[in-house]
Amino acid sequence: MNPHRILPGLLLALSLSIPIAEAQVPTPPDGTYEYAPQRSTGGIGRFYMGREISGVMGHQAADWLERPQRTHEEMPDEVVANLNLKPTDVVADIGAGSGYFSFRMAKLLPQGRVLAVDIQPEMLTLIENRKRSDGVNNVDTILGDISDTRLPANSVDLILLVDAYHEFSHPWEMMQSMVSAMKSGGRIVLLEYRAEDRTVPIRPLHKMTQDQVKKEMGVFGLQFVETLDFLPWQHMMVFSKP
Ligand SMILES: C[S@@+](CC[C@H](N)C(=O)[O-])C[C@H]1O[C@@H](n2cnc3c(N)ncnc32)[C@H](O)[C@@H]1O
Repeated sequence: MNPHRILPGLLLALSLSIPIAEAQVPTPPDGTYEYAPQRSTGGIGRFYMGREISGVMGHQAADWLERPQRTHEEMPDEVVANLNLKPTDVVADIGAGSGYFSFRMAKLLPQGRVLAVDIQPEMLTLIENRKRSDGVNNVDTILGDISDTRLPANSVDLILLVDAYHEFSHPWEMMQSMVSAMKSGGRIVLLEYRAEDRTVPIRPLHKMTQDQVKKEMGVFGLQFVETLDFLPWQHMMVFSKP
């Protein structure tokens, strides 16, 4: 079952409104967010840089993240190969979900670590269970906040965001937190379904255009490096911290 596909009523049924208290984080400038009645199915009526923010995919749909057909729809092994990880890298998988990408990256980091961040404790439990069953000892789970990754400053070489950024209810605060957590020269790699392509069978709020992503990543001074366009449905966009 695909909670992001265009199936009436399904996305709403699977979306969660998560009651997590906001941490002490910098306040965005007035007008950063706009509010209006929900404009699109699955939206939260909160707008950032012209985009309506999507609701969060609930942990009840975690099986969908692990669906077998995802290997050809999203080519996760090829994505991870194209991250060009070093064995010592510290990588944060933010919005890690069930750890679909965390465990793939962990195999390539014998002296490094994956910090798997999510706001849903149930997702982190899935990751902890798999760590135990597979004997993985280089993945750490971190319960984030809707506006704070809870990662230490200057601590990560790479941040991976797969199908997650468009769900962040507080993207300005999350970007601030992510940029602060990155080492100088560190990278953010972001995968989002291509909004420019109407044939990608995903609801509009779960897609982003390259222009929108560049606009939003630039707010805290990240530099666009490249877009890798080998994936059937997604942009794989790379940004770096100067
Ligand atoms: C569609 S899932 C994608 C999971 C995973 N990246 C994957 O590709 O399999 C999006 C995840 O982002 C998480 N999320 C939403 N807002 C977040 C935030 N502010 N900080 C961390 N995780 C967040 C959700 O809880 C959900 O698990």
